[in-house]
Amino acid sequence: MHWLGLEGRTALVTGGSSGIGRAIAEELGRCGVKVGVNYNSGQEAAEEVVRGIRDRGGEAIAIGGDVSKPEDCKAMVEQVVDRFGRLDILVNNAGIQRDAPFTELTLEDWRRVIDTNLTGAFLCAQEAVRRFRQQRPLPNAKARGNIIFINSVHQLIPWAGHVNYAASKGGLKLLMETLAQEVAHEKIRVNAIAPGAIRTPINRPAWEEESALNELLELIPYGRIGEPEDVANAAAWLASDLSDYVIGATLFIDGGMSLHPPFREGG
Ligand code: BGC
Repeated sequence: MHWLGLEGRTALVTGGSSGIGRAIAEELGRCGVKVGVNYNSGQEAAEEVVRGIRDRGGEAIAIGGDVSKPEDCKAMVEQVVDRFGRLDILVNNAGIQRDAPFTELTLEDWRRVIDTNLTGAFLCAQEAVRRFRQQRPLPNAKARGNIIFINSVHQLIPWAGHVNYAASKGGLKLLMETLAQEVAHEKIRVNAIAPGAIRTPINRPAWEEESALNELLELIPYGRIGEPEDVANAAAWLASDLSDYVIGATLFIDGGMSLHPPFREGG
């Protein structure tokens, strides 16, 4: 048995085909969780994640769907339940960036980011909570259901040139906290992780070249970029009963990025 005791539980990880979502899906798989690996455009990548989990003896399925569409979110949860019998954990991870200076940002790119990052998380959480209420709690689990939002340091740190993204993440913070407050009495646990700069495709320009990476490292007191596994380890703990008394919390996994590093000197 794995020390987190997650064996036999089931999870849906949105945006599970790449980056942080992929690492979380893989880590949950290693912990014995049966995983629905959602993808929107990356079907092949999602199938590769599924194969990897199965090769290590776990169970997983790839599930297509656009989190910004209510019917897709419903169908995604249904597919997990059809295949694995229940849903215990939702990881609201799917997120995108469409960056532009403020006056050049199109309404379309404003909407796409809000639709995926904020509305998508709302819709999936709604489906998950409905499902948690319908099913019998697992006899060996302390909570009835568990939702983990993957937010960002930009729920806190304003980010010039990324107003749609920052607005979506600021909104996500109070969506998470409000939902946590609303459903805690039903033994549904809701929490978030706020990653800093993690080496994934979403921020490739920030780490691919040495000069960009050096600039980025100025913002990270711990002196290294984060790896998807740094976030995945925390997600597995938040999904487990070891964090049972953690409600509405945001765990910053950012090497200190949110600690105002320019204030190391001066101020
Ligand atoms: C963004 C990345 C960025 C990081 C730190 C994340 O939420 O998606 O592009 O590198 O925040 O600024």
